[in-house]
This record gives sequence, structure tokens and C-alpha cells, in this order.
Amino acid sequence: MPQYMTLVLTDSLRAAARALATTPLAALFERDGRRAERLTFEWEDFRVDFAKERITPEVLADLAGLAAEAGVERWIAALFAGEKLNVTEGRPVLHPALRDPSTDPLTVDGVDVRAAMREVRSRVAALAGEIGRGERRGATGAPIRHLVHLGIGGSDLGPRLVVDALRPANRKGGVGVSFVANVDPAALDRALADLDPAATLFVVASKSFSTRETLANARAARAWLAAGLHAGADVGRHFVAATANVAAAAAFGIAPEAILPMHEGVGGRFSLWSSVGVTIAVALGNPAHAALLDGAHAMDRHFATAPLASNLPVVMALAGHWNANALGLRQRVVAPYADALALLPAYLQQLSLESNGKRVTREGAAVEERTAPALWGGVGTDGQHAFFQWLHQGTDVVPVEFIVPMVPAHGDRARHALLVANALAQAQALALGRSAADVAAELAGRGAGADAAAIAARVCPGNRPSTTILLPRIGARTLGALLALFEHRTFVEGLLWGINPFDQFGVELGKILAEPIAASLTGTGDLAPTVDPSTRALAERVRLAMER
Ligand code: F6P
Repeated sequence: MPQYMTLVLTDSLRAAARALATTPLAALFERDGRRAERLTFEWEDFRVDFAKERITPEVLADLAGLAAEAGVERWIAALFAGEKLNVTEGRPVLHPALRDPSTDPLTVDGVDVRAAMREVRSRVAALAGEIGRGERRGATGAPIRHLVHLGIGGSDLGPRLVVDALRPANRKGGVGVSFVANVDPAALDRALADLDPAATLFVVASKSFSTRETLANARAARAWLAAGLHAGADVGRHFVAATANVAAAAAFGIAPEAILPMHEGVGGRFSLWSSVGVTIAVALGNPAHAALLDGAHAMDRHFATAPLASNLPVVMALAGHWNANALGLRQRVVAPYADALALLPAYLQQLSLESNGKRVTREGAAVEERTAPALWGGVGTDGQHAFFQWLHQGTDVVPVEFIVPMVPAHGDRARHALLVANALAQAQALALGRSAADVAAELAGRGAGADAAAIAARVCPGNRPSTTILLPRIGARTLGALLALFEHRTFVEGLLWGINPFDQFGVELGKILAEPIAASLTGTGDLAPTVDPSTRALAERVRLAMER
């Protein structure tokens, strides 16, 4: 394991942060005529422009130097070498290996994990092909026409995003795919409302095969099948599992040939590249699934080999660290200007916050810096008519990440031009704002009254930072590369804070506490005497309401 020190800002960087916090972005553009060019980074057809951030090329270069001193390159190498970077769980971090076509062995604990991954991948492709050709049949002999993906968190958000992003708009026929994550019975009921049990297959995606929500939904699905098929029908034919817990999937009644394993070293929020991606292969076809993995692998190669100062995930992590820690901007808004990427903010929320929402270092000491800022967002242009008012004139300054495909996946050029123009205009408006003088002149030009309040209400202060990420047309390869870019950025951010981005122990306590509460609500158990009076009263109130 490489030696590692967290990124500690030097006094001169802290002074630069203080100055940049109050320097208008307009002044920075005036000061450096080549600012836009010097703060734009490219990889293939991706273009990332940090010129509207409160940063300078010199600051970025200094941060890259500190990252190098802190050992980031050695950690990147250790990631790709399959070292056990997930120290708190004693596991390697293997999602990059899942998209690596190399046949060179990658040995973990004496086993070539790459060979095992290849085998699973060919089983995934075979199963997806069989389903796609209508050759996979259920218990009655009817071909499977619909797949329902049951999973939550990382077992849901990644495949759901990819399928939503890449399903052709004009697709007719083929296998229908839907997703159910929530244990709210309404979610599964709605998904099943129009489906024929004889032609429906469930993919139970759960690394642990012990997540309560997913198992409860899988059991409800099994009951729905049993009720809808003939007596004694083999409901097991309607299930596929993607899991690291093969024994539990078998105990659930899933046939061994329908259990697609994944390695323990693949974290839930990185699992779309594993057998969990079987749903992607069914929904989009094997060539698109392969292109997705290929795009991610291309980004992996860049991350593994590019110098830190021009390494896109590293530079994005450094700029994010600068915003969150040097400038104290404690939120990030992600605004994809593509309907295909509407689910990206939710996906990134889990990726960033489950990875880097931590308060102790890898060694168990309290972190010295604040860690991941809150992340939220929504698709543009819709967001402009919702929360952008707050971004422009609210009292909080929040960096925005505009994600903009340059070319439409389909549809006419004029509407796409309007879409992109809106993204660029929003970033410009945030950066430059609108002064009282400009407002007054505009109002006067329109012959409108211009008292002080009318002017003040219209002023946009500007100097609100953003990054613009231009992408090529959204296709499988581009999306794969984009997701890998954010994965690696998240990894590097974790390194800079000295934390382990690959565990998520914070989610466990609530799961433990929910057990006895659920039992008390159904009358099958009692609350522990130590339960606080507030929770006890609320649970009792709900129990009474449910009994009525
Ligand atoms: O939310 C916590 C979590 O452990 C995530 O990390 C994971 O993606 C999700 O639950 C689902 O877990 P599993 O795939 O084991 O069902």
C-alpha cells in the first residue's frame, strides 16, 4: 500500500484562495487573455472548461504538484494493480478490471480475477442474446418479453441511468425493461400492473443478496408469479441473480445457471460494470453494452497514464477540492443539458456522497478537512425554471457543473442549439452577473420605472463559479467514459482527504434500527426498551393507523 499524506494547502495557496474569493471572474478574464484556453482540458472529444471557476492556471498547477507530493500517482497505480485499497474491508477495488479487455492475469489472493470476470461477461452476453432473440422461455414455455430489475442504491442507479440514457426513443418491440428499487409496495405494483407473469423475468441485483428492500421485493415478485402462473409452475425460471453471494441466491431458489456472480472487490456503486449490467445488455443489446465498457476502459487508460497536471479526473478532483476546501463552497450542483442524462445527478449523488461522506481517515483519525460537499442537481433546461433563480440571486454561492453534449443524439438541430445556448448562457450569467447600472439602463430603455427596489431585485451579483463539460454525442462509449471520469474523480477526491472512498459503514446503523421497528409495526416483535420516546410514540401512532 502506498504511503499517503493528505493534500495540505500551502500558505500561498490559502492566500490565493482569499484573493480569488473576492476577485470578480470578469477581472480574471481581463487579467489573462488566454485564461479560457489555459483552463480548458481535453481528452478525446471531451472538453472541460474551468475558466469560470475561481481558480487560475497557476493554482491548478500548484495543486497538481501537491497531489504528486502526496503520492496520488502511486495510488492510481495501486488501483489498477488490484491492491487492497479498500482497507477497512480488506478488499481490492476491481471495477476498472471489469472493463479491461486485457487477458493478462490480475491476481488477487492467488486467483486470476480477470479470467473469472471474462467468464461472467460471456455468460451475461449469452443470456442477453438469448433473451433478446426471444429464446429464453418462462415456466409456461412463453418467451420472456419483459425484464424487471430489482435492486437498490448501486445495484439500481447505474443500470437505470444507462438504460434511461441510451434506450432509443423510437424503439418498437424488443424486451421491455423496468426498474424497481423502493420497498414501497406501490413501486412494484405499478411496475407489474400491465405485465404478464408468463413472459416476465426478474433480475435480482444485490451484491450482498441480503438487502432488505431488494429481498422483500424479490419475495413479492415470487408471490406475484406464483399467483399468476399455473399451480406448481417453476417460478425459478423467471429469476436471474447478479450477486457476490451465490449461496444466498441459490437458497432463494434461483437456478445455478441463472446466478451471475460478481467479485467482492466490486463496490455496489461501481457495480454497473459487473454482472449487474445484464439488464443493460438486455435493454440495449450486447454491442452497446460492449461499447459502454470500452468507453470506460478508454478513460481508465487516460487516468492510469496521463501526467497529473493534464489528467482529467485528477484535475476535476483538484478543482473540486479547491472549491470545497480552499473556497469553502460546500455544495455542488450538477446540471446535465441532455434529457438522456436526467438521472445523472442522482447517480452522482450516491457515487460522491456514499464514497466521500466520511469523517475519519483511512487510519481512523478525525479528518482535518471537511469532506464531500452536498451534491444535487437536475436536468437543464428544466432546472432553469426551478432552482436556477436560487443559483443566480440566492445568498449561497454554489459551483455548477454544466454537462453539455455538443451534438444531439437525435432530433432537430434548432432545438438542440436552443438547449446548448441555454447552458452556455446560464454559465455566463452566473459568472458575469448583471450590474445595477445595466439594469437601470435596460429599464430606462424600456421606459419602465426604475426605483431602487426595482433595480436591486434585478441585479445578479455574478462571480458564481461553474465548470462546463462539453461531450460528443451521447452514445454508449461516451457515457461509459463519462461515468468512469466521475468515478476516478471521486477516488482522487477521497485520496486528497485521506479517506477510504470504498466503504459505506454509515448506512448500516439505520438498517439495524429499522428491524425491530418493522417488527413492532407488524405486531411480530417489540421495540427495544432503549428506544427513545419520540421514535416510540411515532411508531405507535403508525401501528395504530395501520391497524385501522
Ligand atoms: O446503500 C447502501 C448500499 O450498501 C450501497 O452501497 C449498495 O449499492 C446498496 O446498499 C445495495 O446493496 P446490495 O447490492 O448488496 O443489495
